[in-house]
Amino acid sequence: MKKFLINTSGCQMNEHDSEKIAGILEGMGYGPTLDRYEADIIIFNTCAVRKSAEDKVFGQLGEYKELKKKRPETIIGICGCMMQREDIRDYFLSKHKHIDLVFGTNNIHKLPQLIQRQLETNKTVIDIVEDTREIEENINADRKYSYKAFVDINYGCDNYCTYCIVPYTRGRERSRDPKIIIDEIVGLAKNGCKEITLLGQNVNSYGNTLDTEYTFPKLLEEINGIDGIERIRFMTSHPKDFSDDLIESYRTLDKLCPHLHLPVQSGSNRVLKAMNRKYTREEYLNKIDKIKELLPNVALTTDIIVGFPGETEEDFEQTIDLVKKIQYDSAYTFLYSIREGTIAAKMKDQIPDDIKHKRFQLLVDTLNEIGLKHNQKLIGTTQRVLVEEISKNDKTVLSGRAESSKLVHFKADKSLIGKIVDVKIDSVNTFTLHGFIID
Ligand code: 5AD
Ligand code: SF4
Repeated sequence: MKKFLINTSGCQMNEHDSEKIAGILEGMGYGPTLDRYEADIIIFNTCAVRKSAEDKVFGQLGEYKELKKKRPETIIGICGCMMQREDIRDYFLSKHKHIDLVFGTNNIHKLPQLIQRQLETNKTVIDIVEDTREIEENINADRKYSYKAFVDINYGCDNYCTYCIVPYTRGRERSRDPKIIIDEIVGLAKNGCKEITLLGQNVNSYGNTLDTEYTFPKLLEEINGIDGIERIRFMTSHPKDFSDDLIESYRTLDKLCPHLHLPVQSGSNRVLKAMNRKYTREEYLNKIDKIKELLPNVALTTDIIVGFPGETEEDFEQTIDLVKKIQYDSAYTFLYSIREGTIAAKMKDQIPDDIKHKRFQLLVDTLNEIGLKHNQKLIGTTQRVLVEEISKNDKTVLSGRAESSKLVHFKADKSLIGKIVDVKIDSVNTFTLHGFIID
């Protein structure tokens, strides 16, 4: 049997695209392997959001030169967001002559033809589709887990935050047909899936591009009614589109997990404006106040960028102040990374690396202190945990996610993987909760 290996970077959307690629390759008779020297095709599914991800893949591809010398018949493919950018694509192809196959985010379904063409010609096959109007629905993903699954609800992004490359790599925003989404989830539930994570760059604007009137809260309500599904999550929300209706969804839908990821990016109005985020610090804080009042049990997380062009000490202090006011459970923090082709890349006053790092560390320390306090309050509580996997460090320990999305470790038998159990929390640290199963 021929074998494939997929190396994935980036967000959940990319992880799910890799599941689709795996499904297509399995349909072609390939089987998975983790050994690169056994693989007949190796695919790098890339992320373009930050330069560091680009540099990493560039380096990794270099390491495969040796493999290609020993096993010239192995197809080395590269796809994903980075390949939608002509400048990055050209750079990679000029430096890495051993790339056999290049495709993008809009033509994964064409993979069988592209592989066929590569095998016939033994030349580098490049196929990039810029047009993003069509949604290809006929792909059977090979999902990594049976008990939890990603489900795409909308693709692309029309927001054009000035730092972000996504609108240029994932194209215009478009929503999947709700009926197709529901059918997919019903099928997953029938196969034992308990937890669904709905994916989109901006799930709150789901439905905007549909012919019929349809909203994200309505979609959540329908999914909440599907037998077998026990938990619903979603990623990612844009604060400008976060509505009162969605607060109502949290109040009324028993399967919607009490966790909200609402990327703020900065606490300074000046920076938010330069980022084109379309909300002010005050508007964001008002929404959070309302959420805290009406949904006191919802865990709040966010994304923050440090060192956006022109960010002053005062701007950064505003971010720290906002973090302290909101008391996030946790956050993803990013050093601003210049992405060619975006508006912010041309802005003057790029922040020197040493200042960026200093601010970054202060922000992380602040967030960690708050995160630890949140976790400490959970000692003695019982958390419903979906058991996910064996811990990497200790084979007798399992890990899973509480409804709040917090990572929980506990000793148990691996036969519990995929089940939802009650775990009593007896100790915590900044990023994890620890406990024991109770009946
Ligand atoms: N530099 C740093 N972080 C970025 N993000 C997006 N673009 C950039 C960039 N150029 C971050 C944002 C976004 C998350 C997915 O990645 O915080 O919410
Ligand atoms: Fe990028 Fe902004 Fe769209 Fe998110 S909303 S994908 S940060 S442009």
